[in-house]
Amino acid sequence: MKNSLQICVLGGSGFVGSRLVARLANAGHAIVVPTRIAARAAHLRLMPTVTTPIADIHDPATLNRLTSGCDVVVNLVGILNEKGRKGDGFHHAHAALAGKLVAALEGSTGIKLVQMSALKAGADGPSYYLKSKGEAERLIRKATGLRWTILRPSVIFGPGDSFVNRFAGLIALLPGVFPLAMPGARFAPVHVDDVVAALGRAVLDSATDGQVYELGGPETFTLGEIVRQIASTMSRRVLVIGLPQKLSRLQAAVMDFVPGKPFSTDNYRSLLVESVPAEDGFARLGIQPAAFTTLLPASLDRLRARTVLDEYRRDRREAAR
Ligand SMILES: NC(=O)c1ccc[n+]([C@@H]2O[C@H](COP(=O)([O-])OP(=O)(O)OC[C@H]3O[C@@H](n4cnc5c(N)ncnc54)[C@H](OP(=O)(O)O)[C@@H]3O)[C@@H](O)[C@H]2O)c1
Repeated sequence: MKNSLQICVLGGSGFVGSRLVARLANAGHAIVVPTRIAARAAHLRLMPTVTTPIADIHDPATLNRLTSGCDVVVNLVGILNEKGRKGDGFHHAHAALAGKLVAALEGSTGIKLVQMSALKAGADGPSYYLKSKGEAERLIRKATGLRWTILRPSVIFGPGDSFVNRFAGLIALLPGVFPLAMPGARFAPVHVDDVVAALGRAVLDSATDGQVYELGGPETFTLGEIVRQIASTMSRRVLVIGLPQKLSRLQAAVMDFVPGKPFSTDNYRSLLVESVPAEDGFARLGIQPAAFTTLLPASLDRLRARTVLDEYRRDRREAAR
C-alpha cells in the first residue's frame, strides 16, 4: 500500500469527521473534505494536507469529480432530523447519497468505500433514520467490484459531541427538574476516539473489506442513567423524571414543530430499539474501547473546532519528537 493515500471524507467537517481528518492528516494522507458551508470546515483548512472545497455532493458529476483518483472514500454524512416529516430528507441524505456513491465508485478499480451506518439500521427499523441508513447499507453491500467496510456505532460521545453536551446544556438551563423522554432507552456509548480508530483501520487495512462492525463501548446504560451521570459530573442536583411512552411520544410530536427539532417523532421511534451491539466489532478490530464513566468529564466541552485543533497540534508535536 502507498504511504500517502488520497482520501475523500464526505461529512468530514462534523463531530466524528473532524477527528478522523486530523488523524489521517497527521499520518501524512492527502484529504479532501467537501462541505456545503465553508465556515464549517474552517478548522480543517489549517491542516496542510487537507482541502475543503464547497461542493454539492448530491450532484453526480460533482461526486464523480471529487472521488476520481481517490484511494478511499469515507462517507460520514448523516442527519438526525429532516425538514419535513415523511422521510424524504433522511432518504436524500443517507440512501440516495449511497446510491450515487456506488454509481460513482463501482467502475473504479481498487477504490475503497468506508460507510458510517448506525446500530439497528435496517428495512425493519422503526424510524426513517434507521430505515434510510439500512437502505444505504443494502445498496453498498450489493455493489459489484467495490471494496467496502461498514461501521455501525451506538451513540458516540466526546468533546464537541451533540449527545452529552446537549443534555449538559439542558441540565444547566433547567431549574433542578428534568422531564426525560424514553428514559429506559439503552445505549452502549462509544468514545469518538475509538470510533476514529475503527475508521482508521477500515481505511488502511484491506482485511476489513466486506466486513460490518458493530461498535459499542464496554458499558451499557439507560438514557435516564446517562442523564443522571452527566448531572453528577456537572455537580448539579437534578431530579430526572422519566416520561412514560405515551408522554414521550407527545413530547416528540410537540418538538417536531420547535425550530431545530431538539427532539422529534423520528428520534422517538429510533429510541424504541436498543442501541446496543449484538457482536463485538471492536474485539474483531483489536481495539479496546474506553469506558463512558471514565471519559465523560473530559467530554463536557462544546467547542469541537478547538479540541480537534489542540489534539491535532499535540499529535504533531509528539510525532516530531
Ligand atoms: N454522533 C453519533 O452519536 C452517531 C451515532 C451513530 C452513527 N452516527 C453516524 O456517524 C456519522 C457522523 O456523525 P457526526 O456525529 O459526526 O455528524 P455531524 O457532526 O452532524 O456531521 C455530519 C456531517 O455531514 C454533513 N452533512 C449533513 N447533512 C448533509 C447533507 N444533507 N448533504 C451533505 N452533507 C451533509 C455535514 O457537512 P457540512 O455541514 O460541512 O456540509 C457534516 O459534516 C453520521 O453518518 C451519523 O449518522 C453518529
